[in-house]
Amino acid sequence: MASTIFSIKFFSLFISSIAIIGMATAGDPNILSDFVLPQNATLIDGNFFTFTGMRSLFLSSPPTTFKVLKASMAEFPALNGQSVSYAILEFANGTINPPHIHPRSAELLFLLGGTLQVGFVDTTNKLFTQTLTAGDLFVFPKGLVHFQYNADPQDLALAISAFGSANAGTVSIPNTLFTTGIDDNVLAKSFKTDVATIQALKAALGAPKP
Ligand SMILES: *[C@@H]1O[C@H](CO)[C@@H](O)[C@H](O)[C@H]1NC(C)=O
Ligand SMILES: *[C@@H]1O[C@H](CO)[C@@H](O)[C@H](O)[C@H]1NC(C)=O
Repeated sequence: MASTIFSIKFFSLFISSIAIIGMATAGDPNILSDFVLPQNATLIDGNFFTFTGMRSLFLSSPPTTFKVLKASMAEFPALNGQSVSYAILEFANGTINPPHIHPRSAELLFLLGGTLQVGFVDTTNKLFTQTLTAGDLFVFPKGLVHFQYNADPQDLALAISAFGSANAGTVSIPNTLFTTGIDDNVLAKSFKTDVATIQALKAALGAPKP
C-alpha cells in the first residue's frame, strides 16, 4: 500500500518535472551559433540584419481594407533562430482580422492609433474581449483562437504585433474550414446545418469549385 502511494507520488513528480522541462523549452529551438546564415550566403553585413519591407507604411496612403505587413523568417531570413518576429496590422474603418490561431507563439499587440475590439477564446470556451485605446497592449495567448475588429466608422486603427517565434504561423479559421476542400457533408454535420448553407459559405470565401 505504502509503496503504491510512493510510486504514485514519484510518478506525478516525474510527470510534473517533464511538464516543467517542456515549459522551459516551449519556443523556437535554440541555435548553436550567433545567427543562422542562408545556404547561399556570400557577403554578410549589416544589410542581412536589416529589413526594409515596412518602409511602404510611411510611403503609401492608408489601406481601405485590413492589411498585414509581416517581418517573419520568410520575409526576413536573419530572424531564423532568433525567436522573434513582427506584424504590422492596419485596419481601415470597419474592417476585421477574422478568427485565427498562431500555433507557435503568443501575440503581444500594441495599439498605436485608433481603437480596436479584440478577443480570444480559451480551451474551456471562455471568451475574453476588450476594446483597446491607442497606447494599450493586449496579449493573445499562444495557440488560442482570436480576432481583432476596428468598429470605428471613420478612423483607421494601427497596431504592431510582436511574436516569440520567428515563424509563429497563422491558421485562419474561416479559410481552414471552408476553402480547403473539406467535404460539404462533414461540414454540414459539424455545424448542424445543410449542404446549401455550407456551399454558400464556401462561395462567399472564394473557395475553389470542387
Ligand atoms: C539566396 O536565395 C534566396 C532564395 O532563393 C534569394 O532570395 C536570395 O537573393 C539569395 N541570396 C544570395 C546572396 O544569392
Ligand atoms: C469608411 O469610411 C468611408 C469614408 O468616410 C465611408 O465611405 C465608409 O462607408 C466607411 N466604411 C465603414 C465600413 O464604415
